[in-house]
Amino acid sequence: MNRKTFLPNIAFFDSGQGGLTVWENVLKRFPQLSTQYMGDNARCPYGNKSGETISRYAAEAAFFLASRNASLIVVACGTVSSVAVNHLQKIYKVPIIGIVEGFCSHVAHTLENQKERTVAVLATRFTIKSQRILEELNKHHINSVWQKACPLFVPLVEEGIASGPLVDSACDMYLWDIPSDVKIVMLACTHYPRIVLPIAESLERRTGRSVILKTLEGDWLLKLGSKSREDPIFLMESSVSIVRDVEDYLHKHDTENILRSGSQQHILCTDSPSQFGEVARIFTKETLNNVELVKIFFEH
Ligand code: DGL
Repeated sequence: MNRKTFLPNIAFFDSGQGGLTVWENVLKRFPQLSTQYMGDNARCPYGNKSGETISRYAAEAAFFLASRNASLIVVACGTVSSVAVNHLQKIYKVPIIGIVEGFCSHVAHTLENQKERTVAVLATRFTIKSQRILEELNKHHINSVWQKACPLFVPLVEEGIASGPLVDSACDMYLWDIPSDVKIVMLACTHYPRIVLPIAESLERRTGRSVILKTLEGDWLLKLGSKSREDPIFLMESSVSIVRDVEDYLHKHDTENILRSGSQQHILCTDSPSQFGEVARIFTKETLNNVELVKIFFEH
């Protein structure tokens, strides 16, 4: 299909449902945008794979989206952002942004003059192993960093399971040894905001402190602490900084045609569109048009 068949758009991709948390926040802020969202659910999860494999998947996704007239590609995936964004930026002409830099600088800004406090990073196995977020936090002089790979969270979300005993046990298992002085918990995988409430409840069980979610609209008290209201834990996710990055892009570029083209959303996946759509509808308040099955790679 010819590139011109598609309206200029902002494209998002992830291994599956997770990046929809980023996509929907960007759309909430800029409802007039045309977008495409691609979940590579045929190959999800990415977080347990090698850096070479993840980079290859990411290059295929970016190539596919660029060929459908993307003006900007948002890597709405912590795992891909940790390993492949610099490489993608070198091989494609279309601007590409990931979550790591903006998210870490937002965390640093939120901590202000409490940089000695602990920042906890919850992410996929690959993201933690890559140490990419740790490196970036260190650049902001945040040195007390506690990291935990939470590989069970992505399959739970992909199954549409966002609450109940299974999720609670997984949260308690991963968070039982979180340092009690933790100030910020980074949800560094875009799937995790789907289970933000059980994560907050588990943090409260462990520390007795209140838990506040930082959102674009302001602070939300998710869980009132049993011990005290003082010194709450802040839960942060990547979409707040991505919305700012997209805003920045729109200011700097001649984006009239993206904004004028008339808000069209395309949701794409690489396997079982009906199942992808059903699970997406559990999680997103946006009305999803038909989910389209696409082929972005050839068997190797
Ligand atoms: N949502 C992704 C991330 O932010 C990918 C998770 C996965 O596929 O393992 O890391």
